Order: sequence, then structure tokens, then C-alpha cells
Amino acid sequence: MKKTNFKSLLAIVALVGIIGTMPFLTSCKKSTSVAPTLYDSVGGSVMVKDPKSSSGAMIEAGRLALRSVVDSTIFVIAADGSLNNKFFSVLLGEVGKGNLSGFTELSMNLTDFFCVATGAKSFKYTGMDMVSAHDPAKNSRMGTKATSADFDLFVGDLVKGAQQNGVSNDLIANHIGPLVYTLKSQVVQK
Ligand code: HEM
Repeated sequence: MKKTNFKSLLAIVALVGIIGTMPFLTSCKKSTSVAPTLYDSVGGSVMVKDPKSSSGAMIEAGRLALRSVVDSTIFVIAADGSLNNKFFSVLLGEVGKGNLSGFTELSMNLTDFFCVATGAKSFKYTGMDMVSAHDPAKNSRMGTKATSADFDLFVGDLVKGAQQNGVSNDLIANHIGPLVYTLKSQVVQK
């Protein structure tokens, strides 16, 4: 009788032990299968050679992809008569005189912004907040306040910049576009 009780007790302890570890096992499984971010989709944190660096510096593939899109987009905008002089005259004036400091800073700020917005872990955005950056009263580099139509033109140029760098139409339409449109109410101030 005593023996049977001891066996039953052991079985109960074992059962409680197994059931007790189940939620833990389930939560372990959950925490290891983190969904890839948009940043991962464009290359993520894999280190590659930076084609812009003469000293062979490395750069995260995701950052390189986003920086390439940003730089191409700035060139597309510079050639876009509907946006260039109206909004970017300070920048274009500097570039026309061979001064690339504003371009370099804008490229870096926009790249940081998109890295953070798409889920990169290694970067910080330290530029102006989106409302201030697009308010000429707070940012003298912003020619005038943007309308909804200006915003749509800007996004059109961003799409061209992305396509020039081989970003897929699926990523543009289903991920980058929706992300950019979450910022519309902050950028459009007219
Ligand atoms: C979702 C869309 C947009 C994003 C994410 C964005 C982001 C940014 C960022 C991060 C900066 C740099 C801020 C700083 O230097 O501290 C900036 C500057 C600027 N943005 Fe935008 N922007 C967007 C749309 C627009 C639109 C629609 C226009 C005009 C039509 C515009 C015109 C400008 C101008 C003129 C500057 C200053 C450029 C310079 O430094 O010379 N942006 N934007």
C-alpha cells in the first residue's frame, strides 16, 4: 500500500513537472522566432564593404540599401521642377557652388531616419522631428510649407529612387509606401 502511494506520488510529481515546463517551452519557441523587419528585408545588419569608402570601411547591408535609395531620391528631386526650387533651393544653391556639406548631412539624417523607421538596431536619428523639419519657421532650409499634392510628388520621387536601386515593387507598395504615408500628417502643414 505504502509502495503504491509512493509510486503515485512520483507520477504526480513528474506530471506536474512536465506540465510546469510547457508554458516555458512555448514561450522559448515564441521568443526565438522574431519576425523579420523591413530593415532585414533590404539587407539587415550583415556587414558588407561600403562602396563609398576609399579605406574599405564596412557598412550594414540594410543601411547601404537605404542610403542608396536616399541619395538617388535626392538626385531625382533635384531634377524635379515641381519640387526642386520651391522646397530645396538652399540645398541646391550650396551644391551648385560645390559645397556638399548640406547634402552629406541630409543624406545622413534621412538614412538614419529610414534605418530607425524600418527597424534597424544600430542607429539613432538625431535630426529635427518631422513637424519642425518641414516647418520653414523652424527649418530655414525648407523653402515653404508642403501641401498634400507636394507630398504625393515627393513620394513619387522616392519610388523612382527605390526602383533605381532594384527595390521590389512589392516592398515599395506594401511596406515602404504605407510607412511613408504614416508621416504625411506631420510633413504636410498647408
Ligand atoms: C515621409 C516623407 C518625408 C520624410 C521621411 C522626410 C524626412 C526628412 C528628414 C529626416 C529631413 C532632415 C531633417 C534634419 O536635417 O534635421 C528632411 C528635411 C527636409 N525635407 Fe523632408 N521628409 C519627407 C517629406 C518631405 C516633403 C514632401 C518635402 C517637400 C515637398 C520635404 C522637404 C524637405 C526639405 C526642403 C528639407 C531640408 C533639406 C535640407 O537640409 O536642405 N520633405 N526631411
